[in-house]
Amino acid sequence: MRDHNFTTEHNARHLWHPMGHPADSMANPPKIIVGAQDSSITDIDGHTVVDAVGGLWCVNLGYSNNAVKDAISKQLYDLPYYSAFAGSTNPPAIEASYLVREMFADDGMSRVFFTSGGSDSVETCLRLARQYHRLRGEPTRTKYISLKKGYHGTHFGGASVNGNNRFRINYEPLLPGCFHLPSPYTYRNPFNETDPATLAQLIAQSFEDEIAFQGANTIAAFIMEPIQGAGGVIVPDASFMKLMRDICDRHGILMISDEVITGFGRTGDWSGARHWGVKPDMMSMAKGITSGYFPVGAALVSDKVAEVFENDTTGEGAIFHGYTYSAHPVGSAAVVATVNETLRLDTKTNAAARGQQLFEGVQKLAQKYDIIGDVRGGHGLMMGIEMVSDATNKTPMDTATMKKIHQTAYENGAMVRLGMHNILMSPPLVISPAEIDQIVTALDVAFGSV
Ligand SMILES: Cc1ncc(COP(=O)(O)O)c(C=O)c1O
Repeated sequence: MRDHNFTTEHNARHLWHPMGHPADSMANPPKIIVGAQDSSITDIDGHTVVDAVGGLWCVNLGYSNNAVKDAISKQLYDLPYYSAFAGSTNPPAIEASYLVREMFADDGMSRVFFTSGGSDSVETCLRLARQYHRLRGEPTRTKYISLKKGYHGTHFGGASVNGNNRFRINYEPLLPGCFHLPSPYTYRNPFNETDPATLAQLIAQSFEDEIAFQGANTIAAFIMEPIQGAGGVIVPDASFMKLMRDICDRHGILMISDEVITGFGRTGDWSGARHWGVKPDMMSMAKGITSGYFPVGAALVSDKVAEVFENDTTGEGAIFHGYTYSAHPVGSAAVVATVNETLRLDTKTNAAARGQQLFEGVQKLAQKYDIIGDVRGGHGLMMGIEMVSDATNKTPMDTATMKKIHQTAYENGAMVRLGMHNILMSPPLVISPAEIDQIVTALDVAFGSV
């Protein structure tokens, strides 16, 4: 590894960073993170902070889980790679599929298709949804419905169902046949509705209306995050996902629950769908499936979907989709160890308790600072704080002030994430009460500095 001078000098000179402007990265070089332990990260200057981002909503087990690290390194020596395209497989992939299926059996899931990450998993679900309808003799069902403010990754399919225009506009035209409903976002919505249950009903009516307009027999699937993450941590009313499930059922539309963030305990339950008492038809997973230690994702399908593929005798049920690294042996070994550790540590229980602590801490800050427009959380370790420069008019906080808040929080002990004028938090699920206090204190100083 090169020295400190080389590393800082070449920072962002040759590497284009995702989700940022290359010129901005060059002008304001990114923080260089060199090490991590438990729920904290350390930068190249030796400054250590609590990681309120959990890497990127993914390091659920914290940074020091040796069981997962050992499983990865052992597997690298046993078998670093072999294809899992039909015709060959490997033992960790077989065990990983068994464990993941078991973990999500209560959600009605029965089969697992491994991918390399969340965008791949979403893409897999979208494709399999179309194929499912073709196999059932309804090939006209090709469209997708999703929610504004949703984030489903950056492949063309996922971007097409994404509900935030900054992930769309520069890459248009996207996939035809994708339509969006309002988000269950009480702070801002086209109905000016602040009651979450009423808003849920209004969106359900919009869904019915859209189905009537499009024709149910043209719609393959509806995709949603149980709690919208990257869009600002938008927590719907408890009735919302059930209402959407019911509408999907009545119109033969598959429900895809995008659990890339919410899967594996983040909401305080093993899945976001379970948190709301819903059984989807498919689930897209990633992040917590390996705690971010190795890039793996998974598309899960229910019995209803699996049967259609497995009972096909025409040959059309063959899945001509997949990735070189699907069911990668090292990734699968990481999945096995992560699932075992996740269950052993019962991370969902700590997520619920620490999530409540963080939520209450931030609510207290909201009483102190007018620049906090909306506080969203209280369902596990996902928090969104919407910052405004004028609370009455809900004017979004400007970028320069958001960057100042971010930097001041960092200097005072917490790495948070910015999503436009939102502060987003998703710390490791193993975080301690003292570390949550440290995050809240750092935010207090940061808000007080503007
Ligand atoms: C809900 C959701 N779906 C899909 C994705 C895309 O996952 P990836 O970045 O691993 O491709 C993300 C990423 O944050 C996500 O939050």
